[in-house]
Amino acid sequence: MTTTSTGTAGDAPAEDAPLLDIADLSVSFGRTRSGGAHRVLAGADLAVRAGEIVGIIGETGSGKTTLARATVGLVRADTGRIAFAGRDLTRLRPRELRACRRAGELQYMFQDPLRSQDPDLTVRRIVAEPLAAVRALGRQERAARADEALALVGLEPELFGDRTPGQISGGQRQRVSLARAVVTRPRLLFTDEPVSALDASHRNLVLNLLDRLRRELGLAVVVISHDLGSLAGIADRVAVLYRGRLVEQGPVGEVLERPRHPYTALLTASAPSVRRTHRLLPADLRAPTDREPWPDDVGCVFAPRCRFATPECRTEPSAGPVPDPTEGRAPAHRVACHHAATWRERIPQPAGTAS
Ligand SMILES: Nc1ncnc2c1ncn2[C@@H]1O[C@H](COP(=O)(O)OP(=O)(O)OP(=O)(O)O)[C@@H](O)[C@H]1O
Ligand code: SF4
Ligand SMILES: [Mg+2]
Repeated sequence: MTTTSTGTAGDAPAEDAPLLDIADLSVSFGRTRSGGAHRVLAGADLAVRAGEIVGIIGETGSGKTTLARATVGLVRADTGRIAFAGRDLTRLRPRELRACRRAGELQYMFQDPLRSQDPDLTVRRIVAEPLAAVRALGRQERAARADEALALVGLEPELFGDRTPGQISGGQRQRVSLARAVVTRPRLLFTDEPVSALDASHRNLVLNLLDRLRRELGLAVVVISHDLGSLAGIADRVAVLYRGRLVEQGPVGEVLERPRHPYTALLTASAPSVRRTHRLLPADLRAPTDREPWPDDVGCVFAPRCRFATPECRTEPSAGPVPDPTEGRAPAHRVACHHAATWRERIPQPAGTAS
């Protein structure tokens, strides 16, 4: 399967309510050696409005895919609420959830297109698959919708429609995934690394397409990506995940160019395309160790790698992102750091310079 979908046709959210409203979402997997579950996502809060593009960034293993998979129901959440179009998906009965999926209003584009596409099906059938549950559509109509979606992502249906995934390139497979994700005309789309296998021109094609779908159809998009430069170009807001915690979120320009969490600052320091307003260097980020805490542990989850950590950071959880105390009651930019307002003052000066 390339995509999965959830939807809530017919629900009317309160005016001005976010289309997707995730609150306090936690996910655990398996068992640790000590017998407890391994928590990989803790207390995540994220809201996405119609027509908005939200980026999710964070190093590998930070929980980005888990957040997306839990939202669309592919992974079971321990706790939390996932309201989509005004309805809590975590409280639906299995039958209701299946009906929601058939509506196809919430789609997820998988991170790995090769593993998620049936190698024996033609591209046209792969793209049309999510429409199978839409009873009002006949076979020909589904094929026509699939061709329309292929053309939308820049793949000529006559040329690619009858090929199998093994007969197209990695970048083309990624665009097939995107065509499949938008064929149901969803209201919200999760895309997991949508441009990672693409060259610059096709990356722009996909990013421009997402932007166009947002502008023309009001599609809301959550883009999971390591490509901060691409996100800077299309996202409205960005959320930063570190070891299962959302440590910072806010308007894209502010978060990427004026990060308030030391971890975000270090992530952006590794992205040459993002303008830097601090003197932290990638080398300031200590390598991860096996003894690093996961979110169940006491204190700030970033403390073992943070050069600004104080004793308070090791004992007081920085559950978050919490509102920045320097902003008003409903701040757009939120950060989970005890020293958000002061850590920059403690960046060591390069030799020979005065502050
Ligand atoms: N089904 C699973 N069972 C056990 N552990 C899992 C499972 N899925 C993910 N994990 C673990 O959860 C953590 C988060 O994984 P996830 O795939 O969400 O990370 P990610 O941020 O998407 O990483 P990447 O950037 O590499 O795609 C990792 O430590 C991963 O090994
Ligand atoms: S709370 Fe402390 S350890 Fe955590 S990021 Fe802020 S300064 Fe670093
Ligand atoms: Mg992932």
